[in-house]
Amino acid sequence: MTRGAPWSIRRRLALGVVALVALLGILIGTVSVIALRQNLLERLDGQVQDVMRSWVGPGSGAQLPGGSDLLRTGLVVGVAVPGQNARGIVTTSSGDATELTAAQLERLFSTRSRQPATIDIPRLGAYRVVLESTADGSVLAVALSMDDVDGTTRDLALVFALVTAGALVIAAAGAVAIVRVALRPLGRVTETATRVTELQLASGDATIPERVPDAEADPRTEVGQVGAALNRLLGHVEHALVARQASEEKVRRFVADASHELRTPLASIRGYAELTRRIDDELPADAIRSLDRIESESIRMTALVEELLELARLDEGQGLVFGEVELVRLVTDAVGDAYAAAPDHEWEVVAPDPPLTIEADAARIHQLVVNLLGNAHRHTPAGTVVTVTLASDADEATLTFADDGPGIPEELRPRLFERFARGDASRSRATGSTGLGLAIVAAVVEAHGGRIEVFSVPGDTRFVVRLPLRRPDAADASHLPD
Ligand SMILES: Nc1ncnc2c1ncn2[C@@H]1O[C@H](COP(=O)(O)OP(=O)(O)O)[C@@H](O)[C@H]1O
Ligand SMILES: [Mg+2]
Repeated sequence: MTRGAPWSIRRRLALGVVALVALLGILIGTVSVIALRQNLLERLDGQVQDVMRSWVGPGSGAQLPGGSDLLRTGLVVGVAVPGQNARGIVTTSSGDATELTAAQLERLFSTRSRQPATIDIPRLGAYRVVLESTADGSVLAVALSMDDVDGTTRDLALVFALVTAGALVIAAAGAVAIVRVALRPLGRVTETATRVTELQLASGDATIPERVPDAEADPRTEVGQVGAALNRLLGHVEHALVARQASEEKVRRFVADASHELRTPLASIRGYAELTRRIDDELPADAIRSLDRIESESIRMTALVEELLELARLDEGQGLVFGEVELVRLVTDAVGDAYAAAPDHEWEVVAPDPPLTIEADAARIHQLVVNLLGNAHRHTPAGTVVTVTLASDADEATLTFADDGPGIPEELRPRLFERFARGDASRSRATGSTGLGLAIVAAVVEAHGGRIEVFSVPGDTRFVVRLPLRRPDAADASHLPD
């Protein structure tokens, strides 16, 4: 069984009000109609009895009254004298008296009780009848038509039905209108909540500028309570976000400061190691080896610290110096440097005619290219062909770094761009591998609003970097609605 759509408050209230009004209408109508009918009947009975009394008054016999002022339209009178045929007349609207038929007479005298009773006289309709026995054993009957009573009752019932129907329509429309007006503030609360969901809370500013307006946050109304609760929630979340951002900021600052502070002592260590080695004829071979290690390790550590500092700066999201960067030249130069450093690899550049200019931070883009070229050199054997391909379309430039080396280890791929993620081979080899190179690449790409993808199978590894031609912030701002 499928459940239908839930009922809206508007629908519920409209139906509830309609049901209530209908119930009240029926109740009041029924009681009124019954009371009116009772009242009319009593009056009719009084009239029937009046007629009877004035007929049976002193001196009157078991005779039909004739031509008296008793006779009124619709009056039926009858006399049943023992041993004779009963007789009776009905007064028509024109004032004439018509004799009753046998069937009509039989019906007229059919009640036993001496109380007023309702009978149905053939061809005449419903009548209220009173029988009276005289001293000589005759029975007199007086009856008056119920037409007026029935007609009035029917009219009243009809009026009630119409009024109730009208009230139903008005009540339904009124209920819908009231709910609509009453729920309008709720719509504004919803709008605020929706705007908050569109905020970029994960990145960017931690403050939440949206709040439900004061008019909809007055706790004296139901909707106001929702609005006020939402405002409190937003305040709470904002507070948490600001606190978290501040602590993240602190950690970043600490890393940046620590890296910065470490540079100088590291440079000193290297300098002193170099200095000490210069007097090598006086040093034993072991000491020279140790000095070599001190030097190479301090070089490695300097690189590590530089990279950490670079990452901390990129994390802070500042310090990017945007300018015109000509990619063909930049990549060609970097590949030239790579060839100088690793002539046992084959280096190729496939690029369109210069210039291929993008708006970017030249130093960072250079770093990105150097890191990717360095990987293609360091994590592949001699003889590997490394091809850098440049291309561009209307919006972005694409840099593809391809090599036919052994590929990236399967288990490393999910966290390839994470910090300190590196292959076991890179760990064991003393190649200056830090595991920060690709993290920096990813951070640079992100800071420029670009994307990076990796495809890797043995013999074909490709890093595809896409960078927007224009500065993301400036481009974004022009698309934003006011
Ligand atoms: N072109 C490539 N071919 C094979 N493996 C690669 C390549 N580029 C990166 N890798 C793997 O990804 C790891 C992470 O790279 P990276 O972040 O630059 O750190 P690092 O180069 O300092 O080890 C490397 O250790 C290596 O195992
Ligand atoms: Mg690397």
